[in-house]
Amino acid sequence: MTGKSRRPSRAVYPGSFDPITNGHLDIIERGLKVFDEVVIAILRNPEKDPLFTVEERVAIIQETYRRQPRVKVDTFSGLLVDYAVKVKATVIVRGLRAISDFEFEFQMALMNRRLNPKIETVFMMPAESYSYLSSRLVKEVFALGAPVRDLVPPAAHRRLQEKAP
Ligand code: PNS
Repeated sequence: MTGKSRRPSRAVYPGSFDPITNGHLDIIERGLKVFDEVVIAILRNPEKDPLFTVEERVAIIQETYRRQPRVKVDTFSGLLVDYAVKVKATVIVRGLRAISDFEFEFQMALMNRRLNPKIETVFMMPAESYSYLSSRLVKEVFALGAPVRDLVPPAAHRRLQEKAP
């Protein structure tokens, strides 16, 4: 031990999070084992037609992590690597559920590396039980009347119910 204090390691976990699912939570838990701080960064994407507004998604995540000071939530627009530099993160965390995720993730990781070679992308595998889970499927099955209580954190479940007709 040198006694020198080091800067806390910070990773950005970017995505749409519409809404955040237990699969995302699993990746965040894994990220916290490796990094001091995980910043959940929600993309402000005017092209998509989301179920939850960005502000609602931020509120859901804030409520979910209100007792975990090592998890922050923020929004970004523009290039992800520029956002990572802005918040002094050196790593981008992404979840890889299945081979089908790989091609897009591989392209994104290499493009981000080309844009900024100092930012490293780290992939984490969720628990097998979440390997099929996605925000899109949660929204779809919820809209068709199936229970999703076990698939999303309580804050997301409550807000989903508020959206129900
Ligand atoms: O949850 P998603 O929709 O799979 O997340 C995709 C996201 C937000 C990670 C990706 O679209 C992104 O990073 N967008 C920011 C724009 C950018 O930096 N594009 C170049 C990298 S390929």
